Amino acid sequence: MTERHVPALAGSETDAGAPPVGTASGSTASGSTASGRTASGSTASASASLTRSWAGQNAAVPAIELAGVVKEFHARGEVITAVAGIDLDIREGEFFSLLGPSGCGKTTTMRMIAGFEEPTQGVIRLHGQDVTNVPPNKRDVNMVFQSYALFPHMNVFENVAFGLRRKAVAKPEITRRVGEMLDIVDMAGRSERRPRELSGGQQQRVALARALVNNPRALLLDEPLGALDLKLRQAMQVELKRIQREVGITFVYVTHDQGEALTMSDRIAVMNDGSIEHLGTPREIYEHPRTRFVAGFIGTSNLLTGTVTRLDGDLAVIQVSQDERIIVPVQDRAVSEGSRLELTVRPEKIDLTTARPSGEGCALRGTVTEVVYLGTSTNFSVTTSAGADVVVFQQNSASAGNAAARGDSVWLSWNPQHSYPIG
Ligand SMILES: Nc1ncnc2c1ncn2[C@@H]1O[C@H](COP(=O)(O)OP(=O)(O)O)[C@@H](O)[C@H]1O
Ligand SMILES: [Mg+2]
Repeated sequence: MTERHVPALAGSETDAGAPPVGTASGSTASGSTASGRTASGSTASASASLTRSWAGQNAAVPAIELAGVVKEFHARGEVITAVAGIDLDIREGEFFSLLGPSGCGKTTTMRMIAGFEEPTQGVIRLHGQDVTNVPPNKRDVNMVFQSYALFPHMNVFENVAFGLRRKAVAKPEITRRVGEMLDIVDMAGRSERRPRELSGGQQQRVALARALVNNPRALLLDEPLGALDLKLRQAMQVELKRIQREVGITFVYVTHDQGEALTMSDRIAVMNDGSIEHLGTPREIYEHPRTRFVAGFIGTSNLLTGTVTRLDGDLAVIQVSQDERIIVPVQDRAVSEGSRLELTVRPEKIDLTTARPSGEGCALRGTVTEVVYLGTSTNFSVTTSAGADVVVFQQNSASAGNAAARGDSVWLSWNPQHSYPIG
């Protein structure tokens, strides 16, 4: 982990209960040349120390910790289990995402971290301190919502300054800190504007500045880019990542968009039905999805099932026919000859050829049912002789043949290291 600096704040109690901030979008504003955020700070008085370091913090203590957290709602005589028992450690300075479909419990989890909901069971710790029963405004976290509204009658500066004024922070310090934040979010030149004079992306930047100016040790963002169109969302993803690097605080990010989570996160918790199904780095989750749900939710994945005919050390071999086989590394799984095995293979790991490749890898016969040309790549849908439908992505490089057409008989092959057993 890198060294982290956070703007200084005397008596730094943050105001998690501050008015929610608004939807944002990314305008094209290039990421200013933010280097160490000690440098700029337009209005910063040189003497004031702009940074506070968490370096002295025990790195072993997670920034945010959930232990056995359950949340039940009671509605019309019914019990709704929104969060079914979550254990989670989020590290200091981490960009951590909660990813999952609508209704899986992401917002509820976030609201419990912020203190807006109390867990039915379990403990929440911030920097090692039990805050389970601590109100939101006494927690050192700030939350940014998808649909906040900036105060329409206040200009950008006043919107960002609001929380500081409420805490009676001295005027020169307000000027300095708001200026510094507007610099970071690239809104320094627009401090006089009203929200309605800003694009969605600019409003989002103001919302971020408004949360960050309180100097929280963690920022909680609940689908903050949800209202933006794709282009703006992608621009803001890059911006958010830059801002997080620059301020160096922990970001907890909620999204149902797997691409977004993969792009920005250090680690991701994939949630389903109130539980975490897989927690890992984007690469781990994408390449080795632990469950069928995760494999299906993250990107396109091919699910194959077969009966193990032979074990060869760590490898399980599914002999589909005389010249067709799937090989799966099974490591410490309890697999024996005759057991059913479910596995995934990512579409880009599969080669599609007209002749059977030689060698000891995985090979299946199939018939092309669909060809979709996508410019940089081509997607093939293939029905295998074993009955499964398999998707294959092929890059359209200068050397790629991509000759297969609908109805063609083809061979699918891949390195056994790309077969992942699941379940
Ligand atoms: N205040 C509430 N009262 C009753 N049920 C709720 C309440 N808040 C959330 N839920 C339910 O809890 C589940 C999880 O909701 P939520 O955390 O908002 O999911 P997500 O943010 O992943 O879409 C859903 O079934 C939702 O309907
Ligand atoms: Mg939600």
